[in-house]
Amino acid sequence: MSITIPSRTAQTSAPIVEVLAERWSPRSFDTTVEVTQEQLTSALEAARWSPSAGNTQPWRFVVARRGTPEHATIVENLMGFNQVWAASAPVLIVNIAVTQDAEGKPMRFAEYDLGQAAAHLSVQAHHDGLHVHQMGGILVDGLRAAFGLDETLRPLSVTALGVLGGPELLTNEVLREREVQPRSRRPLDELIIGRD
Ligand SMILES: Cc1cc2nc3c(=O)[nH]c(=O)nc-3n(C[C@H](O)[C@H](O)[C@H](O)COP(=O)(O)O)c2cc1C
Repeated sequence: MSITIPSRTAQTSAPIVEVLAERWSPRSFDTTVEVTQEQLTSALEAARWSPSAGNTQPWRFVVARRGTPEHATIVENLMGFNQVWAASAPVLIVNIAVTQDAEGKPMRFAEYDLGQAAAHLSVQAHHDGLHVHQMGGILVDGLRAAFGLDETLRPLSVTALGVLGGPELLTNEVLREREVQPRSRRPLDELIIGRD
């Protein structure tokens, strides 16, 4: 049975930049195509140049390519279905928030800033021909222990990065179906509070 793949491009209610409309989060990656060093470095560089509160840059990353022990360790520390599909991702990145400054003071915007850096990374990666899928379903303590992160370094999410594969590469039926489901968002009006 052949699978009809609908367009994954966002149906926006106003024009937005192409890379944002076309970005989506796949679970199928083409394992025969490597992420080049240039693509990976540019994605990380985009994260580096993300804004942050007081320019504190409270983000750190563990970057692992498929086939390395670090990649396998990250996969072991994913939850449920994430382990099934993300094992094929050519690159996995652990997104880590620096939650305290050098004096031990909490960094109030650490998570906000890390999220924004992860977003910048994903947009750059998409611009460079890759797809990205972020995951919050991770084992925080497991990742901490595996990568020797102290209590000031908090793994928040993992980003999977690679060249898009097709839904047929997914052996799990549930995941294969999710890959082709229509994408949706709340209407814009619902998001705006207090507009006349
Ligand atoms: C912080 C965060 C956590 C997420 N956690 C997971 C996850 O654990 N597993 C998963 O398959 N997708 C995860 N996603 C992906 C979302 O489900 C996805 O971005 C959302 O459904 C919108 O789809 P789109 O990115 O294709 O537009 C996560 C995304 C973000 C930003």
